[in-house]
Amino acid sequence: MTNLKQQVGIKAAEFVKDGMIVGLGTGSTAYYFVQEIGRRIQEEGLNITGVTTSSGTTAQARELGIPLKSIDEVDYVDVTVDGADEVDPSFNGIKGGGGALLMEKVVASNSKDCIWIVDESKLVDCLGSFKLPVEVVQYGAQNLFRKFQTKGYNPSFRMKDGEIFVTDQVNYIIDLDLKKIQDAEKLADELDRTVGVVEHGLFIGLISKVIVGRPEGPEIIEK
Ligand code: 5RP
Repeated sequence: MTNLKQQVGIKAAEFVKDGMIVGLGTGSTAYYFVQEIGRRIQEEGLNITGVTTSSGTTAQARELGIPLKSIDEVDYVDVTVDGADEVDPSFNGIKGGGGALLMEKVVASNSKDCIWIVDESKLVDCLGSFKLPVEVVQYGAQNLFRKFQTKGYNPSFRMKDGEIFVTDQVNYIIDLDLKKIQDAEKLADELDRTVGVVEHGLFIGLISKVIVGRPEGPEIIEK
């Protein structure tokens, strides 16, 4: 069976040209994009600079010999390729299943072009079946958790190996089980204004292209 994650990762790498500053996403789909960029550097002499979105992707990129800069060392990123957990017909989406939403959003927000690579299962009519990750500072996190409970957001702390998961920026993640997000922009505004929230996984208006893996070949959907 074709590996659809590999298929879209390789397709997305075609949008990367010599001299570009490239945002390297995080997750099991972005993994294949990063591998392909590494291959092109080794085999084709591709000359790019990568900006990573997690410690995991940094480790992978280093192993592949991809030259890296931090987001602080560049003014902008030419193109970022990343996975997503859900994408709606307006190209809004949920990210953060892998816990890297903060770095992913900082890099995406500084990118001239953002491409998401997904399989068909990630395309939804309405966001919210996937629990919305909200990255929060550790101080006051239990208090914030109770506030989300009161609002009926069905929160749960992200766990790993029996402990509360700690992000690369040393924050916690509270996942909100919302089922259906009727107004993503309104919810994003509310979370942006909530003290203690560092970032949330609603990505609104950041994406120009989605590449969808299909058995018959990748489909490119443009905005
Ligand atoms: C990590 C992410 C990932 O991009 C998202 O979870 C999709 O991952 P995968 O390609 O493994 O399904 O947002 O924080």
